[in-house]
Amino acid sequence: MRQATVYIDSSALQYNLNRVKQLAPHSKIVSMVKANAYGHGIKDCLAALESTDAFGVACLEEAIEIRQLGYTQPITLIEGVFSADEMVDVIQYQLECIVHRIQQVEWLIAHKNTYNALGLKVWIKLNSGMNRLGFKSSEIIDVINRLKVEGFTCVLAMHFANADADHALNEQQIAQFLQVKQACEPIMASCCNSAAIFKYPKLHFDFVRPGIMLYGATPFADQDVHKLDLKPVMTFSAEIIALNHIQQGEHVGYGSSFTAAKNMNIAIVSVGYGDGYPRVYQKPNFVAIRDQLVPVIGRVSMDMIAIDVTDIEAEIGTQVELWGKTRLVDDVADANATIGYELLCRLTQRPSRRTYK
Ligand SMILES: Cc1ncc(COP(=O)(O)O)c(C=O)c1O
Repeated sequence: MRQATVYIDSSALQYNLNRVKQLAPHSKIVSMVKANAYGHGIKDCLAALESTDAFGVACLEEAIEIRQLGYTQPITLIEGVFSADEMVDVIQYQLECIVHRIQQVEWLIAHKNTYNALGLKVWIKLNSGMNRLGFKSSEIIDVINRLKVEGFTCVLAMHFANADADHALNEQQIAQFLQVKQACEPIMASCCNSAAIFKYPKLHFDFVRPGIMLYGATPFADQDVHKLDLKPVMTFSAEIIALNHIQQGEHVGYGSSFTAAKNMNIAIVSVGYGDGYPRVYQKPNFVAIRDQLVPVIGRVSMDMIAIDVTDIEAEIGTQVELWGKTRLVDDVADANATIGYELLCRLTQRPSRRTYK
C-alpha cells in the first residue's frame, strides 16, 4: 500500500492546550477548530480538546458537525451567520454568533427571546484597523447598547492584524479596543489569538482564541515551536519506494532541473503535490530521516519527490518525515514562501490518517 500518512499526536494537542491554560490561567479558552481543525481532522482533535471551554468555527456547517459529534461546549461562529435563515440552525444547535454588520444584528434581534433563553452570548466585532470585519468604533457603542437593551449578554471582540510582529497598528488597535471596552462596561472581552496570547498577557480578558499554537506550529516568523514550548501535533510522512545511483551530470525529475554535481545516491519518496506537499520552493528544502535533515532535489511531482541520500543510510521502506517534530512545518512553509497554517490546511484527502494518544 502506498504510504503517505498524516499522524496526529493527541497528547501533543493536549500539551499545547495546557500551554494555553498556563499562559492565560484566568481566561476561558475558545479553541479554534475551523477548516477541519487547521487540516488536522476535526473528529480526533475535538476528542483531544475535550477540556477546552468552547470552540470557534467559520461557518454553520463546521459548527453542526461538532454538535453531531456530541460536543456540548459553546461554539462561536466567528463570521456570524451569512443569511437570515441560518438563525434557525443557530437556535437549533445552540450556537453563538459574532455580529460584524448591522443586518446580522437585526437577524439576531428577531430571535432574541429564544437566543437569550438558551443563555447564548453575542460577540460584537470591532474593526480596530484590520479592515476585515467589524463595526467602526464610532458605530459599535450604539450597537452594543442596543443589544444590551434587548437583553443580550455581550462580548466585545477584535482581531489583531499584526499580533505576530512589532507593528505600529498594534498599539492603535489596543487603544481603540480599550476605549470601546471602557465605554461599554460592564462587558466581556476577547482579542487574543495565538500570537497575542504570548505577546499581550494583560489583554487576555475573558476569552482567548488560540488556533495555530494548539496544533504545535508557530504564529511568529522568528520563534520556532520549540522556543515557545509547543509540540507539533501533525507528522506527515511517506516512505522510500525506489533508490537510484546517479553519475555526475545526470538529471533528476521533470524538467531535468536538478543536475548532479557528483556521483550520488538518490531516493524516491511516495509523496507529492497530489497529497498537499508544496511544489515550488524559494529556498532549499529538506525532509528528515531518523531526525537528520536530508535535501529534497529536483521538482516535486504529483505523487513523488526525490531526495539526496548520499550521506545517510536509506532503504526501500525507510520512513521519511515531510514535516513533523524534526522538519517543522513552519520551516517547509518558509522555504515555500508561505506560513505553516496554509500547508496544514492544504493537505488533500489522499494521505491516510492515523491518530495516536
Ligand atoms: C477571529 C479569529 N480569532 C482567532 C483566530 C486564531 O488565530 P491563530 O491561529 O493565529 O491563533 C483566528 C484565525 O484566523 C480568527 O480569525
